[in-house]
Amino acid sequence: MRTRELGNLKVPAIGFGAMVLSPGMYGEIDDDRAERAINTALDAGATHVDTSDAYGAGGHNERLVGRAVKGRRQEVVVATKFGLAVPEGEDSRTFPVGFAFGELRVNGESRLVRRYAERSLANLGIDVIDLYYLHYPDPAVPIEETVGAMAELVGDGLVRNLGLSNVTAEQLRRAHAVHPIAAVQNEWSMWRPVDAGLLAAARELGVGVVAWSPLGSGFLTGTVGGLGEGDFRHNAPRFSAENLAVNNDRYAPVRDLAVDLGITPAQLALVWLLHQDEHVVAIPGSRTPAHIEENAAAAGLTLHPDTLARIDRALAAFEAAGGTLL
Ligand SMILES: NC(=O)c1ccc[n+]([C@@H]2O[C@H](COP(=O)([O-])OP(=O)(O)OC[C@H]3O[C@@H](n4cnc5c(N)ncnc54)[C@H](OP(=O)(O)O)[C@@H]3O)[C@@H](O)[C@H]2O)c1
Repeated sequence: MRTRELGNLKVPAIGFGAMVLSPGMYGEIDDDRAERAINTALDAGATHVDTSDAYGAGGHNERLVGRAVKGRRQEVVVATKFGLAVPEGEDSRTFPVGFAFGELRVNGESRLVRRYAERSLANLGIDVIDLYYLHYPDPAVPIEETVGAMAELVGDGLVRNLGLSNVTAEQLRRAHAVHPIAAVQNEWSMWRPVDAGLLAAARELGVGVVAWSPLGSGFLTGTVGGLGEGDFRHNAPRFSAENLAVNNDRYAPVRDLAVDLGITPAQLALVWLLHQDEHVVAIPGSRTPAHIEENAAAAGLTLHPDTLARIDRALAAFEAAGGTLL
């Protein structure tokens, strides 16, 4: 698959987001299906696998990824995150993020960073993490302190590259002054514009951008007509029954463009993203082998500038019902 650079790290333009493979997220899933999904992604060339110690209970998602990459570790860029799965007995700061996650707890104190990393290494069953992110900045801890402790992990060989997720441009600049940051991971998709200041800072500093939920949590695939039981999007205003119907109607012109191009709406959403910046990569998640292959194939597509302009006009006219809350 076509590759891109996140700092000094080379990754496929389209990776794989493993969050969907833990219970309590997008509905029905079991570990056999989950491992098949990761293997399909690797076979399709989506060898940058993104997880977190906070996906699933007790490191469930990292353990899954660890089992799937065993035996093919050399092929895979393993990315994980810390800060939200606060160890028992430690205090934390809480903040509302709305959307499916409701309220998050974070502790980014430097004294805990090595403990987080060692726990993730054990969950993953590997001896070095290729890309290690702070999942959310801790409002009570200067980012320089957290990143200083992350830099020590690089020095000690536990981690190869550092990343930050859900940060502002200012936080990225302050962190990058402590240790080079390879990637920022923020939400970015056709229905969630990226923070322009963050993108500008990333470009200036040579930091890559990893777009989370690049398919708009499934909406942009044009296949979400309703939600089943145990689906965390029930908490997301854009996915309420009423708003979802409105949004699907309003999104029809973009879906029609995909049909005109002979590709799927999911592929259009991914290839559009890849055209926004030469250092952006997408990490779509899926439990379904056919979807995973379809998504990986989007890395091989190219859009003509006239087509991009048509997409941008359609997106400018598309206003999602349900507000802007994450
Ligand atoms: N850093 C952060 O704070 C943060 C937050 C959220 C997510 N993330 C990362 O971003 C990754 C992706 O995000 P996400 O999983 O929330 O959202 P997403 O990739 O935008 O969408 C996932 C949804 O799309 C569906 N889907 C995928 N490909 C499809 C296709 N070709 N056709 C039809 N449906 C398709 C999946 O259903 P099926 O299973 O049925 O295919 C699933 O319901 C996560 O795994 C995680 O690694 C990071």
